[in-house]
Amino acid sequence: MTQQAPARKATNVVWHHATVTREKRQQQNGHKSVLLWFTGLSGSGKSTLAHAVEEQLHQRGGRTFVLDGDNVRHGLCSDLGFSDQDRVENVRRVGEMAKLFLEAGTITMTAFISPFVKDRERVRKLFPHGDFLEIYCRCPVEVCEERDVKGLYKRARAGEIPHFTGISSPYEEPYAPELVVDTAALDLEQSAQQVLDLLRQRGIIRAD
Ligand code: ADX
Repeated sequence: MTQQAPARKATNVVWHHATVTREKRQQQNGHKSVLLWFTGLSGSGKSTLAHAVEEQLHQRGGRTFVLDGDNVRHGLCSDLGFSDQDRVENVRRVGEMAKLFLEAGTITMTAFISPFVKDRERVRKLFPHGDFLEIYCRCPVEVCEERDVKGLYKRARAGEIPHFTGISSPYEEPYAPELVVDTAALDLEQSAQQVLDLLRQRGIIRAD
């Protein structure tokens, strides 16, 4: 799906530099800021895993936030549906928002299907190297469909939901994500542990 970010319409706008910088915020927080971009099919465990990781980080005093597809689509992206074009725009907006969160010094986790490689790569390019970590929640569509937590796969099979990812709309697996979590094989605790290990390896949080 090719689509450029919309050209900036506003002219005569000048970037204002904050005096409370990302570095100062990180120092105060006692950890670095980063974006963990969870991608995968609906029902693959993205949100559940992101919130489990957030819980652990919060307990150790970390500054965190989870941006979740279903929630963001109630507000910021409530004007978007599930056509390819709308998904592209959804991912673009979230990427830009996550960039602001990075400056705010938080460990931000986004849980969006984000089905297209190109769009995820475009978001990656918005970030300095190492600040965007892609985490693929790998789970066969059969398992997601079997779980069908929200009952959406059943409705999609019945033809009630058009363009449903994995059924009537594609999902492109990441080529080289920073982490693959096999959410069909691992339990939640093991999955969260893998993400926390990644954060330690990358020096985002202290190893202890
Ligand atoms: S994305 O493709 O644009 O990244 P996003 O993560 O925001 O999707 O939203 C996916 C969530 O919307 C799913 O978890 C599901 O609950 C709901 N949903 C509703 N319609 C669809 C659809 N056609 N395809 C996928 N998810 C859908």
